[in-house]
Amino acid sequence: MDLIYVFAFYLALLRVREIGALKVIKPNVVALEINGNPMEQKTTVELSCGDEFEDAEIHWRKNQHNIAARGNSIKVSIEAMLGGNFTCHNASGELLNHTLVLVSPLDFEKAILLQNDNKEFVTCLARNYSGPFHCSWKWDPVRNGVVVFYRALRNSSVLNCSLDKDNGGLTCENLQCPFSEEVTRINLTLLVRNQYRLEEHQRAFFIHDIIKPEKVDFIKAENNEFAWEVPKMWNRPCTFFPLRYEVKVVSHRKDCDDSSHDRPDSFYLNETHYKVSNKRSYTFCVRAQDTFTNKVWSDWSQHKVGKTKSKK
Ligand SMILES: *[C@@H]1O[C@H](CO)[C@@H](O)[C@H](O)[C@H]1NC(C)=O
Ligand SMILES: *[C@@H]1O[C@H](CO)[C@@H](O)[C@H](O)[C@H]1NC(C)=O
Ligand SMILES: *[C@@H]1O[C@H](CO)[C@@H](O)[C@H](O)[C@H]1NC(C)=O
Ligand SMILES: *[C@@H]1O[C@H](CO)[C@@H](O)[C@H](O)[C@H]1NC(C)=O
Ligand SMILES: *[C@@H]1O[C@H](CO)[C@@H](O)[C@H](O)[C@H]1NC(C)=O
Ligand SMILES: *[C@@H]1O[C@H](CO)[C@@H](O)[C@H](O)[C@H]1NC(C)=O
Ligand SMILES: *[C@@H]1O[C@H](CO)[C@@H](O)[C@H](O)[C@H]1NC(C)=O
Ligand SMILES: *[C@@H]1O[C@H](CO)[C@@H](O)[C@H](O)[C@H]1NC(C)=O
Repeated sequence: MDLIYVFAFYLALLRVREIGALKVIKPNVVALEINGNPMEQKTTVELSCGDEFEDAEIHWRKNQHNIAARGNSIKVSIEAMLGGNFTCHNASGELLNHTLVLVSPLDFEKAILLQNDNKEFVTCLARNYSGPFHCSWKWDPVRNGVVVFYRALRNSSVLNCSLDKDNGGLTCENLQCPFSEEVTRINLTLLVRNQYRLEEHQRAFFIHDIIKPEKVDFIKAENNEFAWEVPKMWNRPCTFFPLRYEVKVVSHRKDCDDSSHDRPDSFYLNETHYKVSNKRSYTFCVRAQDTFTNKVWSDWSQHKVGKTKSKK
C-alpha cells in the first residue's frame, strides 16, 4: 500500500514526458528545451545514427560507456541536465556518427555567464559607426563554459563574426555606414554550455546605443591650458553628429574615475580646449560622448598638475 503512494508521488515529482522534440543547434548538436525546473524532469528522446546505417547491429555509447540500446533509431531517457554525447558504432565497434544532446532550461536561472553591473550577461560596444562592434562576456569561474553557437543578424542577414581567441567575446563586421537613421536592430544570439547544460543569451541593439568613443588624446597640457583631439577612430564620413565632452577638475591626489571625490562640478563642452583658472595642483579630466545618442561615455583621460609629477 505504502509503496503505491511512494510510486505515485515519484511520478508526480518527475514529470515524465512522452517523446521530447529536439532542436538542431548545428550539425551533430541538438537541444532538448525544458520548461520549469529541469531537475524534476525526465524526457524520452529519439536519436538516429543516420539513414545510411540501417543496420540492426548498430550499438550505442553515451559518454563512452556502452548502453543497451540497439539499432539505427533508439529511444533514450534524459533526466535533469544529464544530456550526453551519444555515439553509434557498427558491430566491430567502429564509430559511425555522434549526436551531442544538450538540455536547455528555458525559464531557469542562468549560471554559465556572469552578469555585469548593468545586469547584462553580454556587453556590446562599438568605437564608431562604420567599423566592427565587439561583444564580450565573463565566464563563471567555477564552471567550464564553452561557446556552442553564435550569430548576429541585421534585418535577417547574417553578419560576419569571429570568436576572440580567449573565447571571451566576438567581433562582428558592421557593413552599414548609416548616413540615414539606423532603423533595424542587430540581433545577437549566443549559446554556451557547461557539461550538457545549454544556455541561450540574446541581445538586440542599435549601433548608436553601444557607441563608446575612445579616450581622447591631449595635444596640449601646459600653463593650465588643455587641448585634445577627436579620437582617431571617430570616423567623420559616417558621423554627422559631433562629440561632446565632459570636463572636471579634481584633487591632484585623485584619479578621474575615482568615485570618492566630493562631487566636483563637471560641465559639458563642444570645444576641444579648456583653461583651468585659480588652481596650482589638480587633476584635469575629460571624456567624450556622441551628442546624437547621449549614451555611453568614453573612459576618462587625465592630466595631473602640481604636487604630483605630471602624468597622463
Ligand atoms: C549523423 O547524425 C546527425 C545528427 O546528430 C545527422 O544529422 C546526420 O545526418 C548523421 N550523419 C549521417 C552520415 O547520417
Ligand atoms: C562527441 O563524440 C565525438 C566522437 O567521438 C567527438 O568527435 C566529439 O568531440 C565529442 N563531443 C564532445 C562535446 O565531447
Ligand atoms: C565496421 O566499420 C569498419 C570501417 O568502416 C569496417 O572495416 C568493418 O568491416 C565494419 N564492421 C562490421 C561488422 O560491419
Ligand atoms: C530589410 O530587408 C528587406 C528584404 O530584404 C528589405 O526590403 C528592406 O528594405 C530591408 N530594410 C532595411 C531597413 O534595410
Ligand atoms: C568574413 O570574414 C572573413 C575573415 O575576415 C573573410 O575571410 C570572409 O570573406 C568574410 N565573409 C564575408 C561574407 O564578408
Ligand atoms: C531577435 O531574436 C529574437 C529571438 O530569436 C526574436 O524574438 C526577435 O524578434 C528578433 N528581433 C529582430 C529585430 O529580429
Ligand atoms: C572604427 O573602429 C574600428 C575599431 O573598432 C577601427 O579599426 C576603424 O579604423 C575605425 N574606423 C575609422 C574610420 O576610424
Ligand atoms: C553644443 O552644441 C549643441 C548642438 O549645436 C548645442 O545644443 C549645445 O547647447 C552646445 N553646448 C554648449 C555647452 O555649447
